[in-house]
Amino acid sequence: MPVLDRNNPQADNTTAPEFGVYIHWPFCLSKCPYCDFNSHVVANVDQAQWAHALMRELEYMRELTGPRAVRSIFFGGGTPSLMEVSTVDAVLGAIARLWAVDADAEVTLEANPTSVEAERFRGYRSAGVNRLSLGVQSLDDRELKFLGRLHSADEALKAIALARETFPRLSFDLIYARPGQTAEAWARELRLALSHAADHLSLYQLTIEEGTAFARLYEKGAFRLPEEDDAADLYRLTGEIAAETGLSAYEVSNYARPGAECRHNLVYWRYGDYAGAGPGAHGRIAVDGRRLATRTLKTPGAWLAAVDAGGHGLEASEEIAPAEQGDEMMMMGLRLEEGVSLARYESLSGRALELSRIGGLMRDGLLIRDGDRIAATPQGRLVLDPLLGRLLA
Ligand SMILES: C[S@@+](CC[C@H](N)C(=O)[O-])C[C@H]1O[C@@H](n2cnc3c(N)ncnc32)[C@H](O)[C@@H]1O
Ligand code: SF4
Repeated sequence: MPVLDRNNPQADNTTAPEFGVYIHWPFCLSKCPYCDFNSHVVANVDQAQWAHALMRELEYMRELTGPRAVRSIFFGGGTPSLMEVSTVDAVLGAIARLWAVDADAEVTLEANPTSVEAERFRGYRSAGVNRLSLGVQSLDDRELKFLGRLHSADEALKAIALARETFPRLSFDLIYARPGQTAEAWARELRLALSHAADHLSLYQLTIEEGTAFARLYEKGAFRLPEEDDAADLYRLTGEIAAETGLSAYEVSNYARPGAECRHNLVYWRYGDYAGAGPGAHGRIAVDGRRLATRTLKTPGAWLAAVDAGGHGLEASEEIAPAEQGDEMMMMGLRLEEGVSLARYESLSGRALELSRIGGLMRDGLLIRDGDRIAATPQGRLVLDPLLGRLLA
């Protein structure tokens, strides 16, 4: 049963939403066959030029947002652990000059567990990073090969150990529901992961994304994914095993001990405000009582040229209509175990949800209601898209 989180300022409509800053680093050493994130493999990156461009775009974002208190900063990618320490340091310095960064702000960096990148961990810590999110993906060498990863299981475990020594907070990602993966094999791998985990894990089911190498192989019949029922069983098993060590599914794919939730991602899921800098970064910011959706150019070269010419790489900056704000807030919030406030939905969208729709979904065991809050049940979270279709249509 989700409970109202008293520390969640978005739970009522009176407090300004929390604010985070996202930085996108769009480069990787190689392209993983399953990945459709905005990531590019290039021979050389001029780090000083990139640091300068990111800082310029952040200055532009500051003009849009006005003064705000920064609750969280997130370096995502791509592979931000390919950023030189001096680049991370320069960007964090700029954020601290532009906004008021909370003394206990969460500063996360996504890292890949190759040894070269692990060498930079201490430098990132000195620069101010206090949470690392490691892309482990699997603890089985054959599976890592299938996923096109450049690291071994042994390297991943070493990177986890070093990260635990270096950062106060650590999370790592695994991809499951892989071709041919049995419940027993996943249970073993997950228990091994949990024995090395700190207090947060992101556990994603493998999805086939359009335009990826896996999409082409899948279409040719090169491999199959678990059937829907088997994937649902794996999802339930995941929750049960994570719970054995005190990690609960506070979001569809994210598991944490109470208090160890990723604050930055909570800003998104609680429909807070965030500025996004770097190629393909999104933002949601309140400006003069309106809510803007910002999006920057995706291609690194085009983004860099635009920042050089005009101080920002924005490709779009559009006002979000009230009804759409309500829908967005519901789409994000129902991912969370704590769910969403109906009053906040009403105040954002200017209309109330139809009680008959809520009742229907409750009768089907997909939604629960606790006073002003509704939340998807574990069953409902397995079918979020159709659930939202029925709730918001
Ligand atoms: C931006 S990516 C990772 C960042 C980092 N470059 C890395 O590879 O570890 C964030 C996470 O999304 C997950 N992911 C990406 N594509 C996926 C897919 N098609 N299916 C399941 N998980 C996926 C992976 O676990 C990955 O670590
Ligand atoms: S999964 Fe990570 S390393 Fe692989 S291509 Fe995507 S962003 Fe790059």
